[in-house]
Amino acid sequence: MDGHTLAIGGVGAIREVRHPVSVARAMLDETPILLVGEGARQFATHIGAEPADAGSIPSPGGCDTVGCIARDQAGHVAAAGSTGGLEGKMVGRVGDTPLPGCGLYADDRAGATALSGEGESIARGMLAAHILFALPGNGALAAAQMAITRLERTGGEAGAIVLDSDGGFGIAHNSAQFSVAVAADWLDAPRAGTHADDLREWYT
Ligand code: GLY
Repeated sequence: MDGHTLAIGGVGAIREVRHPVSVARAMLDETPILLVGEGARQFATHIGAEPADAGSIPSPGGCDTVGCIARDQAGHVAAAGSTGGLEGKMVGRVGDTPLPGCGLYADDRAGATALSGEGESIARGMLAAHILFALPGNGALAAAQMAITRLERTGGEAGAIVLDSDGGFGIAHNSAQFSVAVAADWLDAPRAGTHADDLREWYT
């Protein structure tokens, strides 16, 4: 999602593409915001997306999500996510990851967020939307924490990374671990950890 234009693109239930997030990026220029299954596959072929080789197709247990948010020097923000879904998922299931206001959102006027975790719980709580609405006046950390607190109503484990429009960031999760990394021009080197506390000194 492009926070400057609010363009958003996604693909779901797509196989045999090496980098589905690149197909989603190409969808930014299209009118539909989400293609799934055969339509997603046809679009990937249309743009010449790199096919996955046999070794890169995730195993049934390989269902992790990777989310990314960024802010450039002009203050424009963006968000992206890629996931294998949840282990044991129903055929055709699409979770929160490509859904605006659920697994991600970006708006230059507020900030950006990406979430990882149990997609049905994230979607039922519209966690990305709640984060974006909470950002002005609360800041990135409080907005992330408020969203994760919503999981008390639905159950489920999730984590959120959040950027505000000034570049401040926050992390919150209710899972035991949440792997996260940050790079910024004000950091001498990228930092990474497996819990929000590992990076606590770097955000407000
Ligand atoms: N958060 C990934 C999924 O539930 O599909």
